[in-house]
Amino acid sequence: TTETIVAVDGPAAAGKTTTSRVLMAIFGLRYLESGRIYRIIAAEALRRNLPPDDIAAIEALCEELLSETGPNTALASPRHTPDSLRSPAVTGLVPGVARIPGVRTHATALIRQWAADQAAPCIIEGRDIGTAVFPAAPVKFYLNATPEVRAERRVGQESGLSYPAVLQDILRRDYQDTTRASAPLIPARDAIEIDTTDLTIQQVIHRMATAYRARR
Ligand code: C5P
Repeated sequence: TTETIVAVDGPAAAGKTTTSRVLMAIFGLRYLESGRIYRIIAAEALRRNLPPDDIAAIEALCEELLSETGPNTALASPRHTPDSLRSPAVTGLVPGVARIPGVRTHATALIRQWAADQAAPCIIEGRDIGTAVFPAAPVKFYLNATPEVRAERRVGQESGLSYPAVLQDILRRDYQDTTRASAPLIPARDAIEIDTTDLTIQQVIHRMATAYRARR
């Protein structure tokens, strides 16, 4: 239920995944990376050559993916490996797919269903978890950092990435995610905002863990 949800939102490469995984381990939470759902829809659209502006076709694809396989298999999707879901082609297409209201309705229902199935406290990272998916979550974090620092971190994490290309991708995704009409990326009114630009990962985790203990 909503009382046991920790929402972790923010732009790409702000530290959401790294910190969420540590909180998961410390507090024994179930963890969901909700971007994975949007990436699976984009990857499948790419595989079938559906352009992101063919809204009807992409909404039909969502219905098919969810009805054919059910929420649990849709999340597991053996066809799409974590690496393939992070390819530049998929990453480039995701925000265009994620702005379609029908896609967000399906993804939101899937995330809520996943949380209901856990019967345990959950930590969920994404862009709109604290604002749209679980607006009543008792603990919400909004992580942010300058685009330059986020690009540097990404380049340091994965080999073979070029800084200018990563920075450009981050700026473009920030723009697309914050300006869409449906559930744009924005801090929830009651989110704890953490600017991670000048913090170490340990400092960010410490702040989050302290807030979690105080609020849960
Ligand atoms: O977190 P990740 O980088 O995997 O997210 C990929 C994209 O999926 C985001 O840039 C955004 O367009 C979309 N997304 C979203 N809402 C979420 C999670 C991800 O719109 N809750």
